[in-house]
Amino acid sequence: MILVHTVDDLRSSLSKAKSVALVPTMGNLHAGHLDLVENAKARAELVVTSIFVNRLQFAPHEDFDSYPRTLEQDRAKLESVGCDVIFAPSERALYPVPQTFKVHPGADLGDILEGEFRPGFFTGVCTVVSKLFNCVQPQFAFFGKKDYQQLSIIKSMVSQMALPIEIVQVQTRREVDGLAMSSRNGYLNPAQRAEAVHLYLALCQMRESFKSGVTKEHVEQEALSYLISRGWRPDYMCIRLAQDLSLNPPENYSPGIDFVALAAAKVGETRLIDNVQFN
Ligand code: PAF
Repeated sequence: MILVHTVDDLRSSLSKAKSVALVPTMGNLHAGHLDLVENAKARAELVVTSIFVNRLQFAPHEDFDSYPRTLEQDRAKLESVGCDVIFAPSERALYPVPQTFKVHPGADLGDILEGEFRPGFFTGVCTVVSKLFNCVQPQFAFFGKKDYQQLSIIKSMVSQMALPIEIVQVQTRREVDGLAMSSRNGYLNPAQRAEAVHLYLALCQMRESFKSGVTKEHVEQEALSYLISRGWRPDYMCIRLAQDLSLNPPENYSPGIDFVALAAAKVGETRLIDNVQFN
């Protein structure tokens, strides 16, 4: 495995590969990221994992400065799953001049749910992901379903821009109690960590209530009340159509339609997101 920090070194390391897969990350890797790399290994001759904490996708009040940077530990983990190349550019290497050209998703997908509560977030994500795509020029790119809206937006970007890249989605990796793995789980103190699983439990309850005939509006209200009663500060608890988050789903469950229940809420100062897909 090699570690490169510049686009030139990255390109030389890829010049002979027949097929390349990219796993974009912000580092502080956990088993969910390693699942992405293992899946990528099964598809391409050479796997590149990028590690870059992307300032463009953080609002000024968010955790860009405190986001954990753990390159040495990440390197050992990536080595253990057979990653071939780590691309860990500095900000200067990836953004040598201010990035005034940006990729904006449409408001229909980009300004709802996460986009409503984190304005500009998906522009930052799409801009860096398309830049990473240009640097690596992979045939495959791997993303986790935990960031369901991000995945939908990237699939849509690749399709609308006719990028010759297959986006491969990988199941969310969960802790034993069900909490979705996330780099931000590391911010939780023991009491918050014990509480954190209730975000997932609330999503599972939404799925069960909706499937048992409770209306979407009622299900969403109940989930919000449940979390608020436990001391959370939810941004949203929503049921949407899995294939197009921007469309309003029917008020009632119908078998055969793919749904997704999505949640974002703060426990203490840590904002967690998760989702559960069902039909
Ligand atoms: O999901 C993430 O970790 C980031 O949003 C990504 C895709 C690496 C872009 O910075």
